[in-house]
Amino acid sequence: MASVRVLSAADIQQVFTINDALEAVEDAYRQKAEGAGVAWPMVYEAFEEGVSDMDIRSGRLAGSGLFGLKLTAWFSGNPAQGLPEIFGTTLICDDATGAPLALLNASAITGLRTGAAAALGIKWLARKDATRLLVAGAGHMSTFMVAASLAACPSIAHVEVWDPKRAEAPVERVEQMREAVSAMLSAAGVERSFELVAVGDGERAAGAADAIVTVTPATAPIIKRNWLRPGTHVSCVGADMPGKQELESALIAAARLFVDDRAQSVSSGELEVPVNEGAIKPEDIVAELGEVITGKAAGRMSDDEITVFDTSGIAVQDLAASKIAFERAAEAGLGTVTEL
Ligand SMILES: NC(=O)c1ccc[n+]([C@@H]2O[C@H](COP(=O)([O-])OP(=O)(O)OC[C@H]3O[C@@H](n4cnc5c(N)ncnc54)[C@H](O)[C@@H]3O)[C@@H](O)[C@H]2O)c1
Repeated sequence: MASVRVLSAADIQQVFTINDALEAVEDAYRQKAEGAGVAWPMVYEAFEEGVSDMDIRSGRLAGSGLFGLKLTAWFSGNPAQGLPEIFGTTLICDDATGAPLALLNASAITGLRTGAAAALGIKWLARKDATRLLVAGAGHMSTFMVAASLAACPSIAHVEVWDPKRAEAPVERVEQMREAVSAMLSAAGVERSFELVAVGDGERAAGAADAIVTVTPATAPIIKRNWLRPGTHVSCVGADMPGKQELESALIAAARLFVDDRAQSVSSGELEVPVNEGAIKPEDIVAELGEVITGKAAGRMSDDEITVFDTSGIAVQDLAASKIAFERAAEAGLGTVTEL
């Protein structure tokens, strides 16, 4: 017998904020660098190539007493039937007994924890005087990139959003984002004044940016090496499967490289294509971000270098975030407890 707390998206939204996500992901990266956090190899299966697939990301966070997994199922035909395109489910278990503790709607956490990862890349690797952020990609995830970066990086004051798929600036989309970003910041008690504008010229915006987050499913580069000025930081989020690529390989080759997980970044993250092309070697990765956070590795070495942080998404982010949501929900009596 095991008591499992089942948490819906609505339960999680009541108790889990963008600041919680930043704290959780920083702690998860720290634990990984200290050997207490482990990301196990991802399992991926396509049911029908380009139509439906699933992946399982799993791992252990010994410092939090947990192991577990997140299962993400993508069925592109679902919206036509009025169903979500993606179902995400996280299971966390006690690592002293193996007992399952909670089953969570992962979608309520994924955006926040992914935004937190990109923002921590900026916090730890961008120049300290970085004020201008460009978010390349204007879809579901982009709102979380903006909110997390504003929450984590007090110097960022001007944010531009560009949709590489469209010739014109995504003005309407940015109006929706403004409300969602303000709501996320206010739920976390973060008071910030900021400018948020839609732009149509990605090359100009990238050239003026101090920090860039790329968050598209692109399979051909959307940001070129010669667009960036010295000292720019780029957090890459979109490439989370083999074949995806957002930065030109020459840009990756010119940058000081950081990742969330060395193996996954090379097998299915932003570095997969440049490594396969021979533009870089896996040994060119300077460090995982957790090694910078714990002081085991140096981050940015000068104001002129270009830094890149690739986050392809690892289970320890979801485990640390889910633990906070689970404990808060239990305190508040949210969710349904089921005896298995
Ligand atoms: N690293 C992680 O932890 C993590 C977590 C969640 C999602 N993701 C990835 O982030 C990416 C974006 O997710 P989303 O939910 O915001 O997607 P979305 O479909 O809601 O938005 C995608 C955005 O990219 C643009 N776009 C689409 N195809 C493009 C192309 N070929 N080239 C350039 N731009 C293109 C779209 O117009 C849109 O602005 C996806 O690749 C997703 O798999 C990564």
